[in-house]
Amino acid sequence: MDTDLSNYRKSYEKEELLENNISDNPMELFQKWFFEVDTNFHEEETNAMTISTMGLDGYPKNRVVLLKRYTYEGFIFYTNYNSEKGKAIEQNPNVCISFFWNSAERQIIIKGKAEKIAENLSDGYFESRPRGSQLGSMISNQSEVIKNRDVLETELSKAEKKFEGKEIPRPGFWGGYIVKPIEIEFWQGRPNRLHDRIRYKLEDDYDWKIDRLSP
Ligand SMILES: Cc1cc2nc3c(=O)[nH]c(=O)nc-3n(C[C@H](O)[C@H](O)[C@H](O)COP(=O)(O)O)c2cc1C
Repeated sequence: MDTDLSNYRKSYEKEELLENNISDNPMELFQKWFFEVDTNFHEEETNAMTISTMGLDGYPKNRVVLLKRYTYEGFIFYTNYNSEKGKAIEQNPNVCISFFWNSAERQIIIKGKAEKIAENLSDGYFESRPRGSQLGSMISNQSEVIKNRDVLETELSKAEKKFEGKEIPRPGFWGGYIVKPIEIEFWQGRPNRLHDRIRYKLEDDYDWKIDRLSP
């Protein structure tokens, strides 16, 4: 197969990212961009982000997860701690997250360290989920090989019966991670491929150094 995509071309012209219009703290710029993309550009799943981990096999691996909260400290998502990504993080907590918001011609790339959040925070989020999602995460050994789809349906029916009329407890293997950033790059597409790239780098654990990068 040989499919030529060289005519796929788009000029990025919607926005700009200039030094005189940014905050000293990247989380504030993140919040501004997130709000604009969500509200003004109507991105479909603004909180979908790609997270890459260094795998036990030595290969990096990306996958999409949903950002469920962010604070000055970092970015929180939920998953199965025994999944492939969970095992990768256990061995090497250095991860990279990225957002591509096509609607606003924006990309954000975050390097940071992932750590498990406090159990009570995971409990709180788990309780807020619909029952179907709670049961789904309980019966799925995420990333394990299974024989067929029936395995899942059967386990779900069993769990539905078991917990009928009862509260569903959060399984210990499921919970949140917070990714604490050490570097955040904001990329805004511009005409003639002369895009704006502003990078914040954490220095001495609290100071953010701001640089413009060549596109
Ligand atoms: C839009 C979208 C949202 C997703 N959100 C999550 C999520 O929040 N948590 C999660 O564990 N997996 C989520 N997934 C599934 C992951 O991409 C991935 O398949 C799963 O976490 C298993 O990854 P692993 O085997 O590399 O650990 C999402 C997938 C998509 C496409």
